[in-house]
Amino acid sequence: MASSYTLFFFFFFMFFCDFAISSHIASATEEDEYVLTLDHSNFSQVVSKHKFIVVEFYAPWCGHCKNLAPEYEKAASVLSSHDPPVALAKVDANAEENKGLAEQFGVKSFPTIKILKNGGEVVQDYKGPREADGIVQYLNKQVGPASFEIKTPEDAANLINDKKVVVVGIFPALSGEEFDNFNILADKLRSDYDFRHTTKAELLPRGKSSVTTPTVRLLKPFDELFIDFQKFDVDALEKFVEDSSIPLVTLFDQSPTNQPFLVKYFESPNAKAMLLLDFGHGQIDA
Ligand SMILES: *[C@@H]1O[C@H](CO)[C@@H](O)[C@H](O)[C@H]1NC(C)=O
Repeated sequence: MASSYTLFFFFFFMFFCDFAISSHIASATEEDEYVLTLDHSNFSQVVSKHKFIVVEFYAPWCGHCKNLAPEYEKAASVLSSHDPPVALAKVDANAEENKGLAEQFGVKSFPTIKILKNGGEVVQDYKGPREADGIVQYLNKQVGPASFEIKTPEDAANLINDKKVVVVGIFPALSGEEFDNFNILADKLRSDYDFRHTTKAELLPRGKSSVTTPTVRLLKPFDELFIDFQKFDVDALEKFVEDSSIPLVTLFDQSPTNQPFLVKYFESPNAKAMLLLDFGHGQIDA
């Protein structure tokens, strides 16, 4: 009697273990098909081989990381056939041996996602969505050209959005240090602004139509509507774009076109901006 119970539990236990082990193996191989797993031993070596790689620093206990995992995997499978392929990787930043890496990348919360370009020479924050389609869209925009050329009036119509800040580099020729610096800036700030370049100032909707020296013209849907700038040092350009894209007065309402400017307003360290509160569109109906 007793021995048949023992046998029963023995088989039950065997079955259960087997089931647990095989399902674990199945899920591990399925999950890791497209997302590369990196650790301290191979991180630099793998990153150095990629022009563009996205790295998620995660912790096994983090709920947001668990929600992201299937979406990240789906995005990785779509982007693996992108030309050139976009690699997605992950590092367990909670593992003792990877803590140095996490520190090097300033990881303070999970997940932290970084975009590494040119074999790791350029490091940027990933500021995109957390679901598969959004990740794919955001990364496609990041991996393509940072700035698009305006050659025709149609390009101008298609590439300039009246409701957004658009930064246009105007150049006598599309080469030289000014042009290179403009492209470095565009690459750096591409997730926050639209960048365009042209040799034909007359195609732009605002500002002087003949420009003889390299000029950055920032078009914006508020205040003076455009500003020209002619210093091509990358830091100076960056400060110019950041400062000029904060409206002097921001309408604090529900309108989606105002949201990017509101975000700017709250992120802005200087207090030059003023906020207008619009109570007309109040949500309090009851
Ligand atoms: C990096 O090393 C880890 C641990 O040895 C391994 O699991 C992982 O597959 C390696 N990743 C790559 C892309 O070689």
